[in-house]
Amino acid sequence: MISRRLQLIGSLVPKDKSVADIGCDHGFLAIWLKNHGHTGKIICSDYRVGPLENCLRNLLAWGYNDVETILSDGATMLPPCEVAVIAGMGEATAIHIMSSSPEFFADCLTIIQVNRNVNVLRKWLMTNGYRIIDERIIKDYKYYEILIVEKGEMTLSEDEINYGPYLLKERSEIFLMCWQQKRDKLAGIRDSLAEGHPDRRHLDEQISEIDRIIGKGE
Ligand SMILES: C[S@@+](CC[C@H](N)C(=O)[O-])C[C@H]1O[C@@H](n2cnc3c(N)ncnc32)[C@H](O)[C@@H]1O
Repeated sequence: MISRRLQLIGSLVPKDKSVADIGCDHGFLAIWLKNHGHTGKIICSDYRVGPLENCLRNLLAWGYNDVETILSDGATMLPPCEVAVIAGMGEATAIHIMSSSPEFFADCLTIIQVNRNVNVLRKWLMTNGYRIIDERIIKDYKYYEILIVEKGEMTLSEDEINYGPYLLKERSEIFLMCWQQKRDKLAGIRDSLAEGHPDRRHLDEQISEIDRIIGKGE
């Protein structure tokens, strides 16, 4: 079954727009889009043959023969699209994909979900002429942050880079739970270290930082 993470991403794709799922793997996002009445063109792409073949098999098993599958490193082989999805990858891969095809991403709405270091991605977007126009956070076993991005300028504070400009403003229950969990994990590591261990100070600083954001103190 398709993950809640991918369902949320799918729900952010405007139904009538052309969309490229870059790094489609199994193709579940495209199948979800088709099942939910997406009328725009859908392209599934991956840079490995195995996942792309798997994607094609899954699409055909659902009877969807109008989804194009393209072997491509990022967007390098793709025609222009109105929406791009980059999901389920590390931040370095997402940055590699966007920086390799600036013309492609200049003209489309990009929905990005990276599995770690979202702060690094936000900073890269800010310094490379992109702006975040919305964000989502979801718990699907793990917590996932999803950024909706377009070409443009933005200036983010250090807190906005680390926590997300929209997520920080909204301070949803899931956002607070996410950071509480990260805080508790750091506190657990700190408490396992001997008094006077050199790493304790850094961990204390990180914990105080999160407490400042989620509004708690020890
Ligand atoms: C973990 S899967 C994520 C699948 C799906 N997007 C999701 O979110 O569930 C990552 C996929 O990205 C593909 N990938 C990694 N780097 C890529 C690149 N530079 N260009 C295209 N696809 C890439 C991998 O081959 C793999 O199929």
